[in-house]
Amino acid sequence: MNAGKDLRCLSQFTTFGEPQPLPSSHSQRHKHLDSLPARPETHLLGKVAIVTGAGSRIPPPPSSSSPSRPDAPQTTPELGNGSATALLLAESGATVLCVDKDLELAKHTARFINSSISATNSPATATARPDPNQPQCEDVSTRRGGQALAVEADVTSPTDCRAIAAYALSAFGRLDILVNVVGIMGAKGTAVDVDPDEWTIGLDINVTSMMLMAKYAIPAMLTGEHKTEGDSGGEGGGIRGSVVNVGSVAGLRGGTPHLMYPTSKGAVVNMTRAMAAQHGREGVRVNCVCPGMLYTPMMYRKGMSDEMRERRRKRSLLGTEGNVWDCAHAIRFLAGDEARWITGTVLTVDAGATASTAVL
Ligand SMILES: NC(=O)c1ccc[n+]([C@@H]2O[C@H](COP(=O)([O-])OP(=O)(O)OC[C@H]3O[C@@H](n4cnc5c(N)ncnc54)[C@H](O)[C@@H]3O)[C@@H](O)[C@H]2O)c1
Repeated sequence: MNAGKDLRCLSQFTTFGEPQPLPSSHSQRHKHLDSLPARPETHLLGKVAIVTGAGSRIPPPPSSSSPSRPDAPQTTPELGNGSATALLLAESGATVLCVDKDLELAKHTARFINSSISATNSPATATARPDPNQPQCEDVSTRRGGQALAVEADVTSPTDCRAIAAYALSAFGRLDILVNVVGIMGAKGTAVDVDPDEWTIGLDINVTSMMLMAKYAIPAMLTGEHKTEGDSGGEGGGIRGSVVNVGSVAGLRGGTPHLMYPTSKGAVVNMTRAMAAQHGREGVRVNCVCPGMLYTPMMYRKGMSDEMRERRRKRSLLGTEGNVWDCAHAIRFLAGDEARWITGTVLTVDAGATASTAVL
């Protein structure tokens, strides 16, 4: 392999020595580069994103006897799939609405993100309800780009979902990305013993909420301002928006003890394909990330023995443990322009667990 040698030769040619008349092949090479398709942006500057279920918990401070002051330094929160995704999108330059039904959890995420991104871009502390029909959110009207806002909303409520999309348009003039993360393990049991009321609640939270968010977010993506080059959208072939739904490998395979969760995640997988087909011509991409057995607060909060953790790790082809970053990076990729030609796809993030019938 002599790639290193070739590279050194190229750098000598371009950096040192007497100026040479341009070889005819040089200008031809430039013409050739000019004729290449434009490369997609790797950042999300100027884009506006909604991430549902973006709340995160902050572990109690070492001395919990004194009440925490608003100006106290932020301790590292426990990041879930939603909060880790919100962080990556904001780090890439997006303005991210961190939606959670628990405003305090959403604030933890937003503050952590804003303080991580930049000390000079510190988050506003005031909270406000700009309109009684709008979800409660932090007042950050003076800040743009690479930032996070906490938004209180219940994504099973059509009113709240409409208000979130409306807020993105009224505050920022556009909406580019929707990441539907909210999901719960929900009703326990098989078809024989599951509680039907719990079943309905689970489907509402895991499936209907994603339809409701898309119902209001997609029209907002189509009507918002589009500042990015090549963003013209619609029949012209540009991209107007991107939706990423979080499913699960449980929605691709059987073998879980409870019926509601795999049923709901299977619905998320095929809802993604159906939505992608319905909104592709409008320039809206819709994709699904299916994580495997990640080690996340959702999984370990209720207690997980070392043996169980080890069994989960060994169930994949790679034999490594997954975490929130694995899921969040896959979402970040599908959300951004680098995935401009990808829609209707189901991306498993499971260290190969679903690629094989058995771990060798
Ligand atoms: N952790 C894993 O191993 C794993 C594996 C596969 C799929 N997933 C999926 O990842 C997603 C969740 O990941 P997480 O680790 O961030 O979970 P999490 O439980 O840490 O966070 C979920 C957040 O959603 C919020 N929420 C719940 N119901 C809501 C509602 N109606 N409206 C608004 N907010 C609501 C909660 O307050 C919470 O902050 C789910 O869709 C889950 O099915 C996780």
